[in-house]
Amino acid sequence: MVTMYAPLTEAGRVRQRGWKRMGGVRLKEAWAEAQKKGWSTGTATNLETLLFEARLADWEEVETRNGQGTTTVLRPTTQAAAPYPRSISAVYGLDEQPLHVDGAHTHSPPDAVLLFCEEPNETPTNVLSIKSLSLIAKETGSPVPYDSLHHGLFVIGSGPAAFLAPALESGLLRYDPNVMEPADFRARRSAAYLASMQDRATAFEWTTPMCFLLIANRLALHGRAKVDESDVKRKVSRVAFRVVTK
Ligand SMILES: [Fe+2]
Repeated sequence: MVTMYAPLTEAGRVRQRGWKRMGGVRLKEAWAEAQKKGWSTGTATNLETLLFEARLADWEEVETRNGQGTTTVLRPTTQAAAPYPRSISAVYGLDEQPLHVDGAHTHSPPDAVLLFCEEPNETPTNVLSIKSLSLIAKETGSPVPYDSLHHGLFVIGSGPAAFLAPALESGLLRYDPNVMEPADFRARRSAAYLASMQDRATAFEWTTPMCFLLIANRLALHGRAKVDESDVKRKVSRVAFRVVTK
């Protein structure tokens, strides 16, 4: 179907100019693209502009770690300096992070993860959408193990609060090898398969100032690449959201 767009009216042009003054960003449009592709990107004058837009859209900011607040500033951290013993930094330090879903340890991981970076840097964020898994399968001739992804159970957390969940449920991903322990053969197969996809991810390069990456957290895995030696001061702000669909 071909969609015809009417030319912008003067009022529309004024609105568009006004929007550009606000940073030229449309988070809702970025979200629509992220839902199709797994992620989307753009620029903004600052993080606050994006958070304002998120509030206008009734998105709920969520903590992925209790007491940490909803905006987290991510900096390259060595294993020794990592503040939380089970955090991804404590395990992987400055090395490449495994592909994961943020908040995989929670009962309801956030829908969206917004990363915002003021200054370009040499350390990409790797992203791999669930849709690309079937494309890779066609290319390689080795099928996506959907049965394992749907039915292999992982133990998440420990003690009385621990629960079981698969890596893929109703089309939504939940995976973080750091907090999910395979509990059966199919889960082990899922973990091995997802680890094998590490090198198939797309490297999102932070080449543009004031750039954001909006990840559909349940539709794409992500993970920071190995920290480049020049990036000791790399700083990325992260906010996770529960997206209200109207
Ligand atoms: Fe993450």
